[in-house]
Amino acid sequence: MKKADIGLIGLAVMGENLVMNMESKGFTVAVFNRTTEKVTKFVEGRAKGKNIIGAYSLEELAANLEKPRRVMMMVKAGQAVDDFIEKLLAVLEPGDIIIDGGNSHFPDTIRRCKYVESKGLLYIGTGVSGGEEGALLGPSMMPGGSPAAWPYVKPIFQAICAHVADGSPCCDWVGEGGAGHFVKMVHNGIEYGDMQLICEAYQLMRDYLGMSADEMHDVFAEWNKGELDSYLIEITRDILAYKDTDGAPIVDKILDTAGQKGTGKWTGIAALDEGVPLTLIGEAVFARCLSAMKEERVAASGILGGCTEKFSGTCEEKKAFIENIRCALLASKIISYAQGYTLMRTAAKTYGWNLNYGGIALMWRGGCIIRSVFLGKIKEAYDKNPELSNLLLDEYFKDKILSLVPSWRKVVASAAMAGIPAPAFSSALEYFDGYRCEKLPANLLQAQRDYFGAHTYERLDSPRGQFFHTNWTGHGGDTSASTYTA
Ligand code: 2AM
Repeated sequence: MKKADIGLIGLAVMGENLVMNMESKGFTVAVFNRTTEKVTKFVEGRAKGKNIIGAYSLEELAANLEKPRRVMMMVKAGQAVDDFIEKLLAVLEPGDIIIDGGNSHFPDTIRRCKYVESKGLLYIGTGVSGGEEGALLGPSMMPGGSPAAWPYVKPIFQAICAHVADGSPCCDWVGEGGAGHFVKMVHNGIEYGDMQLICEAYQLMRDYLGMSADEMHDVFAEWNKGELDSYLIEITRDILAYKDTDGAPIVDKILDTAGQKGTGKWTGIAALDEGVPLTLIGEAVFARCLSAMKEERVAASGILGGCTEKFSGTCEEKKAFIENIRCALLASKIISYAQGYTLMRTAAKTYGWNLNYGGIALMWRGGCIIRSVFLGKIKEAYDKNPELSNLLLDEYFKDKILSLVPSWRKVVASAAMAGIPAPAFSSALEYFDGYRCEKLPANLLQAQRDYFGAHTYERLDSPRGQFFHTNWTGHGGDTSASTYTA
C-alpha cells in the first residue's frame, strides 16, 4: 500500500477535519490517537474508503510515512504536546518533521523547536484558525519554526488552507522558532478587540439609542456591505436576527458574562513584557473580566445607579449618530491593528524573527475569525512599505482615521456623558491622542521620579543620554540612583 504523505495525531474534531481536508486535496494521511478506539471509529466511519491509514501505535504511524516523515499533532496544548514529542523522538529519524497545530503558547514553541532541532529533527509550530469548519474547508494557517522544514510542509499547508479571491493562500511562512504561534496569539488578541468593539457599538445602540435587535440587525447588515465587511460583523448581523422558540430575539436572553480561554490574556502579557501600549486588546480582556462579575454589578447598579440617560434627538439625528458609531468602530479598529502590528514588530526584534507583515495580513484575510476586507488594506500598506513603523503613518490609514476623528470624538463624549461604558472606543482615542502628542506630561513624571528616588532625567536642551539630578529639597544630596529603563 502507498505510504502516507503526512501523519496526524489527535482525532478530536479539529484533527479529524484537517485529515478529511488533506485527503480531499489528494494527500494520503496516517492517523493516530491516544485512545485508539477513536482510530477504529474514524477509519470505519468518516474515513472509510478514503486514503486514510489507521495506526495503533506511534511505531506503526512512523512505518507508514514517506520520508522525511511529517507528523502533525492536533492535541490539547500543554503537557500532551511535550509527551508526544518525547515519544515521537523515539520512533522518528533525523530530518523528520514534527508539527504542532494546537493552540500552544509561543514560549513553549520556542523551547520545543530548540529541543527537537537539538535531536537533529525539524519542528513547526503552526497557528490554525477558523474553527471546525475552517479545519475542514480551509483554515488560516500561520506556521513558524525550523525554516528547513517549510519546503516539505508548504505543498500540503498551501493546498488545505483558505484562499482569497485571487487564489492566494492564507498560509505562508511566518518566521523562526515560536513566530507562528506568536502571530496566532496576536490574531486571537485582535479577535478579542474586534468583538469588544462590535459589542460597544451594540450597547450604544441598545441602551443609548433604545434600538431593538431587529433594528440593529439592519444596521449590521448595512455595515457589512462596506468598509467593515468582515466575518464578525456578518455573524453579529445573523445573531441579532435569530429568534428563540417564542419568537423573541435569543440574544436578549443570553446572560451577559463573557468566558475566555486565555489567548487574549497572553497577548496582553506579551505586550506588557515588550513595553508596547496594546491598550485596546487590554481593555477587551478586562471588559470580559468585568462582565464576569455579574452578581457584583447587579448589586452595584442598585447602589451606584445604572446608566440611564437616553438619546433625545430626532430620527435624522439618530441616523447620524448610528453613522458616528460606525466611524468610531472603524477608527478604533485601525488603532487596534496598529497596536497589534507594533507588538509583532517589537517582539520580532526581541526574538530575532524576520516577519513578513504583508504576508501576515494575507494569512488573516481569509479562513480565520478576524477575516475582513480591511485586512486587504493592511496588506497593501505593508507591501508598499515593509518597514512601516506604525499603521497610522501609512497614507491610506492616516487619511482614513483623520476623516473619522470628529465622529469618533462625538461617540466617546456621548457615551461618557450618558454613563455608558465604551472602554475600547475611548482607550483607542486616548492612544490616538497620545501617539500624536508631541509633548506628553512625562517631564513632570521624570521630575517626580528624580525627586523621590533620584532616578535622574534628561533635558530638552541637552543631548539624549545625558542624565541630570536635582537636589529638589536642599537636603537630598547630589547622589543619583543608577539610571535604568523599565
Ligand atoms: P484522547 O482522545 O485520547 O483524549 C483533543 O483533546 C485531543 O488531544 C484528543 O485527541 C485527545 O486524546 C488528545 N489529548 C488530550 N490530552 C492528552 C494527553 N495528556 N496525552 C495525549 N493525548 C491527549
